[in-house]
Amino acid sequence: MIERIDALRTEGERAFADSGDVAALESARVRFLGRKSELTGLLRGLKDLSPEERAAVGAHANKARAHLEQCLAEAEARLAGGAAPGPTRDVTLPGRRPPVGHRHLIDSVLEEIEGIFAGLGFSVAEGPDVESDWHAFTALNMPEGHPARATTDTFYVSRDVCLRPHTSSVQIRVMESQPPPVRIICPGRVYRNEAVDATHHFEFHQVEGLYVDRDVSLADLKGILDRFLKEFFGPETVIRFAPSYYPFVEPGASVDIRCFFCKGKGCGVCGPLSGGWLEVLGAGMVHPNVFRAVGYDPEAWMGYAFGMGVERLVMLRHGVPDIRMFYQNDLRVLRQF
Ligand code: DAH
Repeated sequence: MIERIDALRTEGERAFADSGDVAALESARVRFLGRKSELTGLLRGLKDLSPEERAAVGAHANKARAHLEQCLAEAEARLAGGAAPGPTRDVTLPGRRPPVGHRHLIDSVLEEIEGIFAGLGFSVAEGPDVESDWHAFTALNMPEGHPARATTDTFYVSRDVCLRPHTSSVQIRVMESQPPPVRIICPGRVYRNEAVDATHHFEFHQVEGLYVDRDVSLADLKGILDRFLKEFFGPETVIRFAPSYYPFVEPGASVDIRCFFCKGKGCGVCGPLSGGWLEVLGAGMVHPNVFRAVGYDPEAWMGYAFGMGVERLVMLRHGVPDIRMFYQNDLRVLRQF
């Protein structure tokens, strides 16, 4: 009997699947599931079996019935939906091109800067965006209450923890973790409590540089920055150092490039009062107090450091008029680079 049930199950399944129209399906239904169908008859005859046989054959027959009901329902659904010809595919249509993205300009420029400095023997160091007060200020010769803290006002997470306002903090972490010599750049995101306008944003990117060795001079610093700026802005680039104050260097300098729009005459980009120069970064010789803070002997080691704002470099080189454009995610802007 079990064998017969299995045979009916297979035959019925095939009959439902092969039914091409409603009439064929109906006659298959009558034949396999109808009141006079063989399966129904088998179920009716169960009462004549011994109790053990009845249980086994009954379960088997009920399963087959349930399965066939399922096949019937599927066939009905198929005939209802598939009455109209199915969707056709035109295999000769040209394919749809998947949209291809690319790196954000800031990201690719960061990589470019890393490449230039890698060629000059610098390796890349990274540090946390959420930084201790010690690494962001105190160890950089800005003890609590130092007025220069206000110029790089940041967001505080707690009294001693802030979002780093510059990547200079990574200098400290690297020097704390290894003895000299050091030759690194530290690219990364920084945060400031700024009123946002065309040239200020509360979040931007910097690349810090640090070189510590036995005999390091201001001339080395000037040489490396001249090399870098010529690579970045082109071989015609002229640079100058002007005295400037940063607590973590002595002497400190702001580094300018001659305005490449007006060639130094003074214009709308560099400003009438700049005399034709564009400030691009800050630099100087590492202050002895910074060496003391990280446990380096300032009598034995010398170093230079520099820091640059990546958005500013990119705005100058690519003529982007507003720093906010980098962060608005407007594809019309981003696709241009
Ligand atoms: N940390 C400075 C800033 O955020 C940039 C800077 C200036 C870094 C001079 C330096 C430096 O290492 O020597 O404005």
